[in-house]
Amino acid sequence: MFAQSHFENSLLYDTKPLGGNRVQTLDEASLEFETLLDYLKYSRECDLTHYKRSTLMRRFRHRMQRINIDTYENYLQYLQCDSEEHLALLSDVLINFTGFFRDYNAWIYLATEVIPKIIDCKPSDEPIRVWSAGCATGAEIYSLLILLAEVLGVEFCQQRLQCYATDADRDTLHQAQNATYNDLEILDIPPDLLKKYFRQTTKGLTFSPKLRRIVTVKQHDLMKDAPLPAIDLLICRNVLIYFTPEAQNSILTRFHSVLNNTGFLFLGHTELVVHQRQLFTPVSLKQRIYAKGLEPELNRYPFITAQLG
Ligand SMILES: C[S@@+](CC[C@H](N)C(=O)[O-])C[C@H]1O[C@@H](n2cnc3c(N)ncnc32)[C@H](O)[C@@H]1O
Repeated sequence: MFAQSHFENSLLYDTKPLGGNRVQTLDEASLEFETLLDYLKYSRECDLTHYKRSTLMRRFRHRMQRINIDTYENYLQYLQCDSEEHLALLSDVLINFTGFFRDYNAWIYLATEVIPKIIDCKPSDEPIRVWSAGCATGAEIYSLLILLAEVLGVEFCQQRLQCYATDADRDTLHQAQNATYNDLEILDIPPDLLKKYFRQTTKGLTFSPKLRRIVTVKQHDLMKDAPLPAIDLLICRNVLIYFTPEAQNSILTRFHSVLNNTGFLFLGHTELVVHQRQLFTPVSLKQRIYAKGLEPELNRYPFITAQLG
């Protein structure tokens, strides 16, 4: 078995088949890998073809190392024999690293600058609809609710907000549903906010039930399922990076179609709208926040025109 760093760096790797060593070329490995993806797609209804190959291969090898398999071909055989293996693989592939207040300043900007503009543009009897797509354990949507409760009050949130937190990974959604976190997971929550919005339970620290009730948590695959309609704020952070450029474009087009005309899109720190620039206007490139629509609409947001200079 080869160490991960060896796999990462080498152009050739040793397949060690029965009957002696043989060196497999990258082309052979890629071909085997695509066969593996086809098998998963057509025989296990697990379509991973939209994800970037470099990340996928790294995650597959990680999984294969754990079960002591060193070629994609052997892994295919393993998948064919074990009807549960693709589920374990999927958990490894859908990297669900997350955290509360990741990129703290971006969240502050969102709560203090962007949300008030959304509220200004909406009649007071209409709900404000927020969608956290690829929410992982829910840390993201609950971070936002904490800030909004601080800025606007819990009552306003209860009356006006409709939040959706979705992810393709059922396991991680379970935690989003329970909104309960361990000591390590809550480390980045400022102590005063932790005290105010969480309570100790037998299972860990549980988020305020009053605010939790505002959020609908559900399974949703960005490539397969219809996007949620009439959204004012769409948070999709650190998800698009895992997809191929074609898949990213398709997701961004769908996001555009469901955002209200005065809606906003919030991406992760390393993500940019590159190919769909005609669909979104940057509000703050630094914080990766975009407005839907065309320039004239920006007149409604004085702070945006100021930013664009
Ligand atoms: C790195 S995490 C980001 C979590 C959170 N948005 C954040 O930034 O802290 C990526 C998340 O995207 C989810 N994901 C991956 N592919 C997806 C898909 N096709 N549809 C919905 N969610 C997906 C994964 O399950 C994972 O929870």
